[in-house]
Amino acid sequence: MIDKIKSLVEDIKQSQTDSAEKLEQFRLKYLSKKGEISQLFDSFRTVAAEEKKVLGAEINKLKQLAQQKFDEAKENLENAAASNDAHDLTRPGEPYEVGSRHPISLTKNEIIDIFNRIGFTVSEGPEVEDDWHVFSSLNFPPEHPARDMQDTFFIEKDPDILLRTHTSSVQSRVMEKTQPPIRSLFPGRVFRNEAISARAHCIFHQVEGLYVAENVSFADLKQTLLYFAKEMFGAETKIRLRPSYFPFTEPSAEMDVSCTICGGKGCNICKGTGWLEILGCGMVDPNVLKNNGIDPEKYTGFAFGMGVERIAMLKYQVRDLRLYFENDVRFLKQFKSAY
Ligand code: DAH
Repeated sequence: MIDKIKSLVEDIKQSQTDSAEKLEQFRLKYLSKKGEISQLFDSFRTVAAEEKKVLGAEINKLKQLAQQKFDEAKENLENAAASNDAHDLTRPGEPYEVGSRHPISLTKNEIIDIFNRIGFTVSEGPEVEDDWHVFSSLNFPPEHPARDMQDTFFIEKDPDILLRTHTSSVQSRVMEKTQPPIRSLFPGRVFRNEAISARAHCIFHQVEGLYVAENVSFADLKQTLLYFAKEMFGAETKIRLRPSYFPFTEPSAEMDVSCTICGGKGCNICKGTGWLEILGCGMVDPNVLKNNGIDPEKYTGFAFGMGVERIAMLKYQVRDLRLYFENDVRFLKQFKSAY
């Protein structure tokens, strides 16, 4: 019997188990109920008692060897099948998500595109500014409340260096370097010391516009802004200019567009008025031209400034400003546009 065991050990070691069929044959031959090892156990019962100890140990070793070989071969075959799967060229492709631009960028790009079409270029200025460019050159009197600590973030203790509170500062930066004609747009971030809520934030975005040349009139301003409103909110859109005050424009106005939700009938977005305020504008104050080295006897100009968050809110019907800053992908994913 010991010879039989030895020859089975050799047979098992030599057996081929590199395919599912061969492995099944191996199992039938050695490990099944009628297989060689079961038969050995059957004959073992008739063996003389003194031989049992040695032979029993050998048969058990044989069984372990067969089982181990079977388990290893099975695992190898399964692994091979799994890695073949990874190269299955007939499987459908994995879809991957395409990112989308932030709604503030989309809106800003669209504003720029609309004005590009009527000849406005784009310029930028610094976010950390001096008092001259943000306030003094723009005709803000020294005691004007906009300079107040409550509105403006100052850099350290130097009251001359601050975070710009509006992009109108870039008007001054461009005019001091360029003689008319100037027809340009200034997009950028602005900063104001305000408590964060659904309707206010301490960081937001503006787009400023400036047109300075000979014979620029209020009619040009109005027509330019009407064109913008129709392009941005649809051909049916109407505009309304209300008298207002800004230190750097005279006369000054605020512009409303007919409500983008109800079309002017009155709803809860426009608080029943049919109108939504979207920007400030006016004819550049002659003092501002003079402060920036442009001859107010020869040139006139208009300027306007709008909040990008505000325009985006109206365009996409977003009710809470804070959503723009939280970067929750469930919010951001919803904006797909050509811009
Ligand atoms: N700078 C103003 C603000 O931040 C907006 C503004 C009003 C800009 C009138 C202009 C303008 O260019 O003419 O509230």
